Amino acid sequence: MKKKTISVSVIIAAMLFLFVPPLMAAEFPDIGPLPERKAPNPKAVELGKALFFDARLSGDASLSCATCHNSEMGFTTRDSLSEAYPGSKHWRNAPTLLNVVYKGKTYGWDGRLDDLDDMLRDMITDSMNMNMDMQLMQERLKQDPKIVNLTKEGYGDKNMGTSQKGEMTHYVARNAIIQFLETLVSKNVPFDKGNLSAKAKEGMALFKGKAGCIQCHNGPYFSDGKPHNTGVPENPDVFKDPQRHFTYVAYMMFMGVDNRMSWRRDVGYYTISKDMKDIGKFITPTLRELKYTAPYMHNGIFKGLDEVIEFYNKGGGEDRPGLKDAGIKPLGLSASEKEALREFILSLSGDPITIPMPKGVKVEYQPLPNWKGVKN
Ligand code: HEC
Ligand code: HEC
Repeated sequence: MKKKTISVSVIIAAMLFLFVPPLMAAEFPDIGPLPERKAPNPKAVELGKALFFDARLSGDASLSCATCHNSEMGFTTRDSLSEAYPGSKHWRNAPTLLNVVYKGKTYGWDGRLDDLDDMLRDMITDSMNMNMDMQLMQERLKQDPKIVNLTKEGYGDKNMGTSQKGEMTHYVARNAIIQFLETLVSKNVPFDKGNLSAKAKEGMALFKGKAGCIQCHNGPYFSDGKPHNTGVPENPDVFKDPQRHFTYVAYMMFMGVDNRMSWRRDVGYYTISKDMKDIGKFITPTLRELKYTAPYMHNGIFKGLDEVIEFYNKGGGEDRPGLKDAGIKPLGLSASEKEALREFILSLSGDPITIPMPKGVKVEYQPLPNWKGVKN
């Protein structure tokens, strides 16, 4: 009799274990409002903002940060694949810079750098981005009295790692841009204010439970900062266009990837780890401000949120066995559940943040003869 009771309770426990959906939220860092950050130095922000819009930061003065990270489009562009330096074509989507100061680690879709200053250095010096030499940039900027004044005002009373206080150096230039990025933080986000509609609340429950999004999109930034393979399809435009393909091959060469002429896919985190199990992994992006940042994914393959939700509902994309993350499974969401999830994701977007182009930055610049793209 006693034995029987035990086995019945064991069966009941086993049934509970099998049939009660796992309480995922408890296992992962919870989502929540963005914590306050220390206010940046307003004078440094002014300098950083001027530099952000300044095409002199690129080798041939044809591109500024704002060309690819446009404030009117959530600090990205509507292109699936990003702009690139003349002569190259990019093979990845330009990510948003909204809230990027919260990222804290693993910058770039493949997570190749873990420091924001290093990421900015790469943006400026990489041949496919701005193709600029740091010393040359520094000297160019020193020629502009407006920049010189802003530097004195922003960095005059502090020694920001430079030997001469208040003097423009490439370090100061990057630091000022980072101070400007500190101001690109979401405002009036319904989720942060605890102001969710009933439908969005239902979406949040799905996000943390049945849909399992919280496994990777967690913490206040909605990202675990880690690489995962979700089976996002390749963007065929990368391989159809020899110029684009070659920009990618050149990047793989720079990163020391073997057999780079054979790959017909973006290998993602494998570029960094060189471990075959990491093929097709990309760093989990934030889900904040998605209202402004379509198209989505590392290659801009999905035009809208509905496509993304459908993708997850089907259990992600296809990949070779063992490569896809075990957390990506068919979800069986009803039409109304998909709508709720979408409403929740949209509740993570706040007021639009647009920064008018500062006046006079380019105008004071005297282009050398034959420099393309400078509009004075
Ligand atoms: C020619 C287009 C282009 C220009 C110009 C450009 N970027 Fe980017 N940016 C990109 C692309 C594309 C990526 C993604 C790269 C990758 O993942 O391989 C990126 C990534 C970044 C990231 C990492 C974001 C993240 O979530 O990991 C930061 C930060 C950034 N850019 C800032 C800047 C700043 C600041 C400037 C100006 C100094 C700048 N970018 C200029 C296209 C550009
Ligand atoms: C196993 C980890 C994982 C899970 C689970 C997951 N995601 Fe993602 N998510 C990612 C990664 C990694 C990317 C980037 C993939 C790429 O670009 O190839 C991404 C990208 C996205 C994007 C595109 C964002 C942008 O800026 O391009 C959206 C939207 C998104 N996920 C929503 C969701 C939703 C909704 C769920 C739940 C149904 C979910 N994710 C579950 C890891 C995950």
